[in-house]
Amino acid sequence: MPESDKNKTKMDNFKNRIDPAKLPRHIAIIMDGNGRWAKKKFLTRIKGHEKGIDAVRDVVEACREMGIAYLTLYAFSVENWRRPASEVNALMRLLKNYLLKERGNLLENEICLKAIGDLDRLPEDVRETLFQVIEDTEGGDKMTLILALSYGARWEIVKAALRIANDLKKGAIREEDVTPEMFSAYLTTSPFPDPDLLIRTSGELRLSNFLLWQLAYTELYITPTLWPDFTRKELMQAIEDYQKRERRFGMTSDQISELHAKY
Ligand code: FPP
Repeated sequence: MPESDKNKTKMDNFKNRIDPAKLPRHIAIIMDGNGRWAKKKFLTRIKGHEKGIDAVRDVVEACREMGIAYLTLYAFSVENWRRPASEVNALMRLLKNYLLKERGNLLENEICLKAIGDLDRLPEDVRETLFQVIEDTEGGDKMTLILALSYGARWEIVKAALRIANDLKKGAIREEDVTPEMFSAYLTTSPFPDPDLLIRTSGELRLSNFLLWQLAYTELYITPTLWPDFTRKELMQAIEDYQKRERRFGMTSDQISELHAKY
């Protein structure tokens, strides 16, 4: 059998093992390892990021095909501004090119683009391109792609706390209104459900200031694969693994079975 047919058969096997009724509604990904991927191949770090964009395309396409409703990608953290200017500039250029190139694809596939993070810090041309694509794709209702850019969870939580304090001071809300649910409503992620599955590539066992509030009950899938090598096949593996887990949200196994029997 030719190699391409063998790959197709393998992919179909994965597809068959995934239960479409139990798909994670929201997948979040910490795309790590571009630099190490490049180093292993004696290439520049920028080449690693370039290859990382190919993986982004593949994963976005696969999520859209599978029917994942929300996909959040950690593309640039607030801490990443501390990298050498040449790398930051290259990442900004790649981001702008990605947005310009993907606009058509997003529209065609009815994918709505959103962004979270301290977007005021992005270079003006990148910000303008981003806002333009966000506006253009607003009507997309097949999937929401959320780019975390200049994003830091602590920054976001502090901002939310300040806004709540301000609203309390103005009397717009009362102290008893401040619940975890209402706190969520003050975060930049308020329009989206919390992630069901978090994937982190390159084997690091940390959250790196990503969605610290929203990941409270998220299932984690950590893989040693470096981001540029991450494929839709491994995405399916992560989903298959996720579907084997029992999500208890602090309850007992019996309570969960009763709930499932009811609904
Ligand atoms: C981590 O690899 C990755 C990043 C800091 C940026 C992720 C960016 C991309 C995949 C490309 C741009 C994305 C979009 C959506 C246009 P690293 O550099 O920290 O790798 P290392 O830990 O091996 O050095």
